[in-house]
Amino acid sequence: MHTESIPLTQVSQTGAGHDTHSSRVVQRVHDLVHECGGWIGFDQYMHEVLHSPDYGYYSTGTVKLGADGDYITAPMLGNVFAGCLARQYRQIRENLTYPESAVILEFGAGTGQLALDILTCLNPESALPRRYMILETSGGLVERQRTLFENSAPELLSVIEWVHDIPDNITGMVIANEVLDAMPVKRFRVRNADSIVELGVGLDQGLLDWKEGAPLEGTVLARLGELDLPTGYQGELGLQAEYWTASLADALEEGVAFIIDYGFARHEYFHPDRIDGTIMCHYRHESNMDPFLRPGLQDITAHVDFTAIAEAGSQAGAGIAGFCSQACFLIANGILDLASSEFATPSKQMLEITRQIKKLTLPHEMGELFKVLALSRNYPHELSGFSFKDIQDCL
Ligand SMILES: C[S@@+](CC[C@H](N)C(=O)[O-])C[C@H]1O[C@@H](n2cnc3c(N)ncnc32)[C@H](O)[C@@H]1O
Repeated sequence: MHTESIPLTQVSQTGAGHDTHSSRVVQRVHDLVHECGGWIGFDQYMHEVLHSPDYGYYSTGTVKLGADGDYITAPMLGNVFAGCLARQYRQIRENLTYPESAVILEFGAGTGQLALDILTCLNPESALPRRYMILETSGGLVERQRTLFENSAPELLSVIEWVHDIPDNITGMVIANEVLDAMPVKRFRVRNADSIVELGVGLDQGLLDWKEGAPLEGTVLARLGELDLPTGYQGELGLQAEYWTASLADALEEGVAFIIDYGFARHEYFHPDRIDGTIMCHYRHESNMDPFLRPGLQDITAHVDFTAIAEAGSQAGAGIAGFCSQACFLIANGILDLASSEFATPSKQMLEITRQIKKLTLPHEMGELFKVLALSRNYPHELSGFSFKDIQDCL
C-alpha cells in the first residue's frame, strides 16, 4: 500500500480537525489510485469521498444540512413544501385499493424534517400512513432524524421505520428529494467526433486531478454518440441513479414515486452551453466546481438527466405519471392557498410563509431548476401535482 505523505493544498481552508479528516480521505484516495494502476473512475472517487462508510462525507458526523452545515434543502425552509406533499399523498391514498394499507417511503431523509412535517400535517386528519419508512444510507443522519422525532413528536415515532433495503410491494407514495444528485456519476470527455473517453481521477505532481481513462464503448458510447456533442465537451452519466430507479420501479406495487431534484430533460442536460457538465460542490453555503477540494468535507453533486431516469423507470415497468418544474407542482398542490390557511397561524406568520413560497417557486430560486418526475404503477389516476402543467412530452 502506498503511503507517501499528502500535500495539504487540497485540504486547506478548513479547521484543524477538519484538516486531519480530509488528509485521511486524500490519503485513502491516493492509495486507491496507486492500487488501481494510477487511475480510478470518477464514480468510484465520488463513492469514496461521499459514501465510504469509514470516512465519506455522508458517513461522518459533521453537520451537512442547515445553517451550520453546507447547504439548505426545501424541507428546511419551513413546512410549506411538506404541506404540498401531504396534500398529494392524501389524493393518492384515497385512490388506492386499500387506503389503510398505504405507506410513505422516503429515501435520504436528511434531517428528518420533511417526514416530521408531512406526518404532522396528516395526523390531525387521521390520514397517517400505516408506516413512514425511511431508507437513509448515512448512519449520522439516521441518528439526527431519530433525535428530531424524539424531541419534537415522540408520539409519531411508532409510525417511523428505518429500512436498509428497498422494501418489496410498495403501496402508497415514495419521495426522493435531492437524493439522486448525491449518487456517483461517470464522467466523460469528447475528444473528437470518433472518440469519447471516460474521465477519472489520477495524480498530477502529487495532487488529485482529472485524468483520461479508456475510450467508451458499447451502449454507453452509443447513447452519447446520438447527442452529437462538441469536441471538448465534458459531462456526466448518472448510471447509478438509473439502476436505483429501475429497482424502485420494480418494487412499486400500487402508487406513485416522486423524484424531486435539480436537473433537466436530456436535450437541455446535454446542451452545448453546458460544456463542462454539471458537477457542483457545496461547502459552508458556498458552491464551487472543483471536486478535489477538501475531499470528505464538501458535498459533491451532479444534476439529474430526467430523461434517463424516466427511461430507466419505464423500462422497469413503471408509467410516467407526470413531469414539471417544482414551482408548477407546488402551485398545483395548493402552495398559494397555504399562505391563507391554517399554516398562517400566529406562530407561522404570513410573511414567513410568503418567504418560503418565493424561495420554492420563483424561477431564479428553486422554482425552475428543480423538477418533479412521477413514476407510477397500478395507479391510473390524474395526479393533482400535474393538474397545472405536465411537460412529460419534453422528456
Ligand atoms: C442532499 S441530502 C437531501 C436530504 C433530504 N432529502 C432533504 O431534502 O433535506 C441527500 C440525502 O440522501 C442520502 N443518500 C445519498 N445516497 C443515498 C442512497 N443511495 N439511498 C438513500 N439515501 C441516500 C444522504 O445521506 C442524504 O440524507
